[in-house]
Amino acid sequence: MSVKVLITKSYDELSKKAAEIVASTIRNKPNLVLGLATGGTPMGCYRELIRMHREEGLDFSEVVTFNLDEYIGLSPDHPQSYRYFMDENLFRHVNIRMENTHVPDGMSKDPRKTCEEYEDAIRKVGRIDLQLLGIGSNGHIAFNEPSSPFDSRTRVVSLSERTIKDNARFFKSIDEVPRQALSMGMGTTTEARKIILLASGAGKAEAVAKSVEGKITTDVPASVLQKHPDCTFILDEEAASKLSGKVTKF
Ligand code: GLP
Repeated sequence: MSVKVLITKSYDELSKKAAEIVASTIRNKPNLVLGLATGGTPMGCYRELIRMHREEGLDFSEVVTFNLDEYIGLSPDHPQSYRYFMDENLFRHVNIRMENTHVPDGMSKDPRKTCEEYEDAIRKVGRIDLQLLGIGSNGHIAFNEPSSPFDSRTRVVSLSERTIKDNARFFKSIDEVPRQALSMGMGTTTEARKIILLASGAGKAEAVAKSVEGKITTDVPASVLQKHPDCTFILDEEAASKLSGKVTKF
């Protein structure tokens, strides 16, 4: 098994492609269970989904969402919390029911219990139908840093030095970046029926090449996706620049 690779000409095209897949999946299954990612990369896709909702009537009223992760210690009204990100960049612009949106609670007094409840909530709706992913420059998915076990579940994780540096661009200073997060596990994430991973820019090229063509190893978390029966990487040309070219394109 291998991942499929779709190389687009620009970030704009990548975003539109991803949004088209999400939209057609929602149209086929209005009560879709959708796994969502944060970060800079999916923002264009979310913008396009909002446009489709406004101009083409894309209906989110029965969609249920689960986000991958949340920083520990950031409240929902903190501009860098992932709950705030999702509300601002997607949820409040479409007709999704807020009670159908799930983001782990980074302020929980009992994070362990919160993680178990998150797993239970996913189990209750069955399974994630479509999971959107980004990728860290070290190959992480969600906040599953290198060496995360492939069967890990939602849990408290520590961010790697590289991820703290990468994500510092969203904060006033690197000291403000939380050091821990709640993250869906590798097992939780890869159980989704269909996965789309988005990557843009030269900074992701090495992680993409290792994940698509390298050895399957916990050193490069996204490499596990090679074993997934339905996973597509949607890349722009820069993110695809280190692939050998022998990948399955479509
Ligand atoms: C964070 C998130 C990941 C995301 C990654 C890449 O670490 N936890 O889910 O994929 O950043 O983000 P960006 O798209 O901003 O490069």
